[in-house]
Amino acid sequence: MKLKVKDRLIVALDYKTLDEVKDIVNEIGDSISTYKVGLELFLNTRGEAVDFLHSIDKKVFLDLKFHDIPNTTTMASMFANNQEVFMFNVHAGGGPTMMKSVSKMLKENSSDSIAIAVTILTSFTEKEVATHFKSNFNISELANHWAVETKESGLHGVVCSPLEAKKIKELCGENFYTICPGVRPIWASSNDQKRIMTPKVAIENGADFLVVGRPITKSENPIHSAKLILKEIEEGLKIIND
Ligand code: C5P
Repeated sequence: MKLKVKDRLIVALDYKTLDEVKDIVNEIGDSISTYKVGLELFLNTRGEAVDFLHSIDKKVFLDLKFHDIPNTTTMASMFANNQEVFMFNVHAGGGPTMMKSVSKMLKENSSDSIAIAVTILTSFTEKEVATHFKSNFNISELANHWAVETKESGLHGVVCSPLEAKKIKELCGENFYTICPGVRPIWASSNDQKRIMTPKVAIENGADFLVVGRPITKSENPIHSAKLILKEIEEGLKIIND
């Protein structure tokens, strides 16, 4: 899979207002090509954050995690596709019928959007999974199972921890995308992230895209921080390609 170094870094815009977004995106400039827009920003800017990013030729990962019946999720996915977002996600918990319906719609519309699934939310504990899903499987077994279902349903990848990326690639193939948050360079605070990996090790471990927020957006020098992370991605790629 041929992805450029710069395209592998997605910066999470965990902001409320369009003004904050404009400030940080304009400050970062050409170093970053792709940004993640989540529920909070999308709703509070009435979708304008997506239009703004597209107007300055940035790519958008629309992180709205659609989770509904097949018809509703497929219609929502169609509108994401119509907005020409680079990437969007559904919830694998919606099941294979829903994911297959989304995949079919994308094919019928010759879509270029990358459609991925969220598996088990990282906020779940093992105990909560056992009681909520009445399951004897642990979190990573369930996440792997849902990743395989996502692949078999025709979607393009999953959000996962960089700790799980290698296994998911083994199960779903090299071309199945792994999109990994929980990435922290040595020099950055871990904030509230628990199971973290450095950008270089995450890439070595099979991560295709890294989703990084605060180490860049809350940094005193966001451009410098972004460049350091891109350099680590390059180093990781060199190791796996040598
Ligand atoms: O600031 P930080 O680098 O921790 O931001 C990571 C981004 O990835 C946030 O937008 C967070 O909501 C998102 N995310 C995550 N863990 C997941 C799924 C999404 O951190 N499992």
